[in-house]
Amino acid sequence: MKAIDKTLAGKVFLLTGGSSGVGKATALSLAQKGAKIVIISRQAKNAEEALREIAQKTGNDQGDYLVADLAVQASIRKVANEFKQRYSNLHVLANLAGGIFFEQQLTPDGIERSFAVNYLSHFLLTNQLLDMLKESAPARVITVGGNPSFLKHPTINFGDLQSLDRFSGMNATAQAMYARVFFAFELARKLRGTNVTSVVFNPGVIKSNLMRQTPWYMKLIGAMYEPFAREVCEVGGYLATSPDIESTTGVFFNENRQIVPLHQRFDVAIGEKLWAVSQSLINE
Ligand SMILES: NC(=O)c1ccc[n+]([C@@H]2O[C@H](COP(=O)([O-])OP(=O)(O)OC[C@H]3O[C@@H](n4cnc5c(N)ncnc54)[C@H](OP(=O)(O)O)[C@@H]3O)[C@@H](O)[C@H]2O)c1
Repeated sequence: MKAIDKTLAGKVFLLTGGSSGVGKATALSLAQKGAKIVIISRQAKNAEEALREIAQKTGNDQGDYLVADLAVQASIRKVANEFKQRYSNLHVLANLAGGIFFEQQLTPDGIERSFAVNYLSHFLLTNQLLDMLKESAPARVITVGGNPSFLKHPTINFGDLQSLDRFSGMNATAQAMYARVFFAFELARKLRGTNVTSVVFNPGVIKSNLMRQTPWYMKLIGAMYEPFAREVCEVGGYLATSPDIESTTGVFFNENRQIVPLHQRFDVAIGEKLWAVSQSLINE
């Protein structure tokens, strides 16, 4: 195990997506530092396997899990309540789960699946846990974005937010990724003065199951990146724990820990509008 970070004692880190990909890679980084991680997965089996692997690789067996389907709003509300019953603090919420969906499908709540799982789930989960984050402050919300070269001109297509009129897997993925970036920036604005920060980041190329359900050409692209894919997401662990950025908020971090000045082009009006539309989509 790497050197234990004593400042993490007693702190709780909740991660969506902790059973695979960016979530598991960030969980590994945190476990290496000695952190108490709680991961969310749709299946107990996936979570238990991931926690076993993390314990075996890091010697840190404090990991816990909760089961929830982020495509179902009732399940998200339920898991937030379960978390609150089991834990009295939340110091870091890491919004890292996601998927690429090439077939158009609506969730049981009637939301386009890519938008729901990648973005709206995290909007809802974060809002459900905001009171606890504020009570546990200093606290952080870190949200996975993507490669900043795809984020130069993020826009939200409010006319067809969920790609319902014209669906393409790539457009739906991009829309959800843009939404996560706007969400993270707007969250930071809303949290000013609370000692809870919000940042969004590029994890780099991480070992992943993301391409499993995609067409052959996407699998081919995935295979090309495979040799470069990392098992541990160092930047995720850094953003969740480093004292150097304790009060840094409303910015985008690249995989090398450098800030990419995307926040300078953040359009507050879009952030506010997305927030309001998202609230209506979760009936709040
Ligand atoms: N991998 C990369 O290099 C990379 C780079 C930049 C951005 N990203 C972004 O990061 C996000 C995650 O990608 P990944 O590489 O981690 O994918 P992955 O390896 O396929 O892992 C997806 C994770 O999300 C969870 N998940 C998916 N749907 C869920 C649902 N309905 N309810 C609860 N949990 C759900 C999965 O948990 P269970 O299956 O156990 O439920 C799993 O832990 C994506 O949005 C992706 O665009 C990834």
